[in-house]
Amino acid sequence: MGLENEPRAMQLTNVTLTNYATKAKKKLKENSAVNTKTMSGRRYAQDSICLKDVLRGLGEIFSEDKVDVDEVKSLLRAYKSNPKDWRKYCTWDPARYTRNLLDSGNGKYNVIILCWSEGQGSAIHAHANSHCFVKVMDGQILESMYAWPEDDNEEAPMRMLKKTSVNVDEVSYINDSIGLHRMENPSHTEPTVTLHVYIPAYGECMCFDERSGHRSVCQVVFHSAQDGTIDYGNGKSSAAEGGFDRMND
Ligand SMILES: [Fe+2]
Repeated sequence: MGLENEPRAMQLTNVTLTNYATKAKKKLKENSAVNTKTMSGRRYAQDSICLKDVLRGLGEIFSEDKVDVDEVKSLLRAYKSNPKDWRKYCTWDPARYTRNLLDSGNGKYNVIILCWSEGQGSAIHAHANSHCFVKVMDGQILESMYAWPEDDNEEAPMRMLKKTSVNVDEVSYINDSIGLHRMENPSHTEPTVTLHVYIPAYGECMCFDERSGHRSVCQVVFHSAQDGTIDYGNGKSSAAEGGFDRMND
């Protein structure tokens, strides 16, 4: 998520989380009709697609008004991670995990590669009423899921719902009606790379302090960007040449 571990932005004091969660559920229902749309008929054969096929497939799926969560999961699972496809987009920072924009989805959605050095993790965060899909490309990610704080005005530790290890080629999904989460690379010896898809794309979201439940607004930042275009033709891109623009860091 590229969520700042040190919240920079103002505290939200005038919005109750109860209301926010209710609104989130309503908005998700309105925007995406999760689980109600039938499969489009597109099929994705295991091991037969590459990363560029995934990006094209996402473009097709999201060209429609409704999001079929199962179809997106199916597409992401069908791709067998190959470092040759994505290694050139990775950037690494010993101080924090990095977010590398692969496809800006014409402003409708985005696809991001996150690079987690050993032990790095995100803050607990929400997803701004968007759908969030995560596919592990290398290593392992540990997802800790939390309930929304029940009382906006009372300090209390966040309630953890579950912890899940997600391994290479597995896909996880969350939205604000499901809960909040924190992601981390649990390994002290191996890096982790994950592919994230957010629809709609968003520029900020809420982060939470685990001990108090206090929340703040976190800016979503990118450490590299493909500027919405990827050279499918010969596999050579500005990313491979290190021609990144640094944004909002
Ligand atoms: Fe997230």
